[in-house]
Amino acid sequence: MKKWRLNLRVLSLFSLLALVLAGCGEPFLSTLRPAGEVAERQYSLMLLSTAIMVLVIIVVTIIFVYVLVRFRRRKGEEDFIPKQVEGNHKLEILWTVIPIILLIILTVPTVADTFKLADTEGMKDEDAIVVNVRANLYWWEFEYPNQKIITSQDLVVPTDKKVYFNIKASDVKHSFWIPSVGGKLDTNTEGENKFWLVFDSEKSESANGIFYGKCAELCGPSHAYMDFKVRVLSSEEFDTWVNDLKDAKPEVATESAQAGQEIFNESCIGCHAVESQDGRPEQARQAPNLAGFADRQKVAGILDHNEESIKKWLKDPEEIKPGNKMSNTYPDLTDEQVDQLTEYLMGLKEK
Ligand code: CUA
Repeated sequence: MKKWRLNLRVLSLFSLLALVLAGCGEPFLSTLRPAGEVAERQYSLMLLSTAIMVLVIIVVTIIFVYVLVRFRRRKGEEDFIPKQVEGNHKLEILWTVIPIILLIILTVPTVADTFKLADTEGMKDEDAIVVNVRANLYWWEFEYPNQKIITSQDLVVPTDKKVYFNIKASDVKHSFWIPSVGGKLDTNTEGENKFWLVFDSEKSESANGIFYGKCAELCGPSHAYMDFKVRVLSSEEFDTWVNDLKDAKPEVATESAQAGQEIFNESCIGCHAVESQDGRPEQARQAPNLAGFADRQKVAGILDHNEESIKKWLKDPEEIKPGNKMSNTYPDLTDEQVDQLTEYLMGLKEK
């Protein structure tokens, strides 16, 4: 291969790498910028294990290079047979004991933190903030049992206190992960996993109050689009949000919105709900609860929140999230009907 062509390949490989790595380090998305107690503990463990690994690599590399140089075959010594050694108790003890010590240094904080993060006793307190998370192909439901409200796609939490999670899935295995705050934990169909997170108020300010959440388990063709957003509010704001959402009713101000409501009640209400106090059992809640939909961060978890995106989604959800359960479950809508439905959906405000 010509040299310049090789150089070009190496250069493009590094440029691509630089481009990919440029995505790292955002305060709202990166495990390397922890924004809460859990993330900080996980980050410290990462640092500790990386430090131990780097130390081992450095020591081994130094010994390796030393041996290569010191015992290389020299000119004129081609037939020289060095002294044959069999076993060395000192060395054998040394290379058994050192790894054991390193493993102990790694194990003690890891096990201690694992138990600490799994301690969900406080969940039983009456004023604990508890969220039941249900993962579905490809959307997230967030139920607040103590507040008696249900929402979806946007997880809303108060800052600086423990938020407890009961997590499960209704179809296949998914995984709940908020990279900069903590996780990831599998959501299973056959049982609940429990853990807690803390959302740091100062750190969340630098992330503009929004963290990114992701599904971290390959679950189907739209796994990569199974995102959710986390809105972090102060305790007072959180209480206001709960009260507002509790009473939020669809706002049907125009004739067009009314026509949209009719379409909704005919074709969508079988799976979706528009009020946060949804008394139906979870088997009946087959699609995201849309209470407060107009004030959410994204449409379908991934599109910018505007009317254009809603229309795009309503016209062809399959194109945006392949394999989602909404495709082909409602009749083809005319452009006018799509407009009316969009207007109705934009009237589903938080207050
Ligand atoms: Cu759900 Cu990946």
